[in-house]
Amino acid sequence: MCGIIGYTGSLDARDIILNGLEQLEYRGYDSAGITLRDGDKSFTKKKAGPVSILRKHCNTDEALGFNCGLGHTRWATHGGVSDVNSHPHIAGNVSLIHNGIIENYHSISKDYGFEDELISDTDSEVAARLINHFYNGDPYDAIKKAVAVIKGSYAFCIIFNDIPDKIFCVRQVSPLVATHADEGSFVASDVTAIISYTNRYFVVPEERIITLTAEGITICDFDGIPEEPDMLEVNWNVESAQKNGYPHYMLKEIHEQPDSLRSTIMPRLKKNIPDFTEDGISDEIFINCNKISIIACGTAMYAGMVGKYMMEPLLKIPVSVNIASEYRYENPILDENTLVIVISQSGETIDTLAALRLAKEYGAKTLSIVNVKGSTIARESDYVFYTHAGPEIAVASTKAYTVQLASLYLIGCRMALVRGKYTPAIAALFTAKLLESIPAINKILLNNSEIKDAAKHIMNATDVFFIGRGLDYAFSLEGSLKLKEISYIHAEAYAAGELKHGTIALIEENTPVVALATQDQIFSKTISNIREVKARGAFVILITKENAVVSDDVYDIHFTVPMKYDRFTVFPVAVIMQLLAYYTSDLKGHDVDKPRNLAKSVTVE
Ligand code: G6P
Repeated sequence: MCGIIGYTGSLDARDIILNGLEQLEYRGYDSAGITLRDGDKSFTKKKAGPVSILRKHCNTDEALGFNCGLGHTRWATHGGVSDVNSHPHIAGNVSLIHNGIIENYHSISKDYGFEDELISDTDSEVAARLINHFYNGDPYDAIKKAVAVIKGSYAFCIIFNDIPDKIFCVRQVSPLVATHADEGSFVASDVTAIISYTNRYFVVPEERIITLTAEGITICDFDGIPEEPDMLEVNWNVESAQKNGYPHYMLKEIHEQPDSLRSTIMPRLKKNIPDFTEDGISDEIFINCNKISIIACGTAMYAGMVGKYMMEPLLKIPVSVNIASEYRYENPILDENTLVIVISQSGETIDTLAALRLAKEYGAKTLSIVNVKGSTIARESDYVFYTHAGPEIAVASTKAYTVQLASLYLIGCRMALVRGKYTPAIAALFTAKLLESIPAINKILLNNSEIKDAAKHIMNATDVFFIGRGLDYAFSLEGSLKLKEISYIHAEAYAAGELKHGTIALIEENTPVVALATQDQIFSKTISNIREVKARGAFVILITKENAVVSDDVYDIHFTVPMKYDRFTVFPVAVIMQLLAYYTSDLKGHDVDKPRNLAKSVTVE
């Protein structure tokens, strides 16, 4: 949520910052701004709209010849989308960019008499004014005093007018990484903005002030005691964060799923049995638990739903799936015998992080499934299972979902083994079936023109329903989310058997219904439910396994998935639903990668 970048070094700062902002735009794209410094000279521009608009306004000689600067791309929280509410915020000696939310900004502006001075409606301007208020030539002192007053989450990058070649940063909860390379020093919300300069970086520690100069970066705590950074390395390169010939990141990421699955599954198989020794995950947490609570938001939560439907019958222990933002306020029932599995692509989602912290307070063992290395959720959980999907840039999650599923399947299988539900031979059979998902996905990807045709039947609809029973219901939740978030068509998932208790009233002539019937055990029941909607005029897009026998009066379009085993059909089914959403959005002319009102990582509550 909000992308921030700062640079000081030997190169021209304008292009470095604008290029970095383009890489970070998936974090928020309401507006963007830049401030550049060189001695007494400065250039600042703030514009509502995407980074491309800001870039046009920076296409002037006045923006050249600077070696230090800050850039920001915004996802509005306090104050509407406007030039003036864009960052950087400038107050006296201070130019500041901010990611996060300052909860007590009202009382700060009242207590310090800023109310009449404020020119924007943002909480961030209040922070700039507060730091300026405390500034008397000592940046550390001013920052320290300001953060002692501020409540909330923040990553601040600040330039003081009289120190124009240095950037000072401090953070609490909101993410920030930094690095020094041959070209100079960089700070950013995430590594995608700096990966073209180096693959080594560090996560800015909380309650520390870091100072960037052209020569290097220093870290010190609030007492001025210096420390060394904990360096991390990303194992993907700059090409991974580019479109590589695809029209959209989303389509590229859909096509990356076979590789992402291989990278996530293969290193965890020893003689075909899931083994997490190299992840440092102890079997004890799998053996000594009598309950699993899965906590996540959005797509990650829907991956958790599939995990529940898959794990409960396998392990014969209760598995609950919890919406992270609700979890904190519902007095959850958990103790030291609960295994809490937290799922997050970014590892930053603040509701998920807060739920993780709560679970730890209750003494539960925590295992996170995270894609971004070194992210806060990964660092704060007892154990982390990294998915190896590489960077996911499109706001609508695709490859992160399928690798989260694969991780849950591997964890479920390992648990079944160490809890005596599976023999090694059955565990090996399970992983062999899991691996069959890779060619199954490839087959769907090769034949996607029919899915594009099906999208034509959806694009003009006002409502689309996704129905299924059992695991199919769990899969359909993600299908409907994918469609609604990028096509802006109202889409809902329903347990097919529940339709007749109300929702079927909404089915009219030609209402699209995406019906999933890939589970043998309840196949005929689902087909009966499909007949119920078909009889009321629904346009049915049916998804079954290849060998399913269905009469052609139940559907209008029929897709099959090349997967024999019920439990594993989700992988190709997910890809069909992702492509359906992708093509519908694209046909409607929407910005597929940057759907309105959304952002990739949600670091506000
Ligand atoms: C946002 C994104 C979703 C994502 C959710 C959870 O809403 O747009 O795609 O599923 O956050 O994000 P996380 O990074 O925790 O998986």
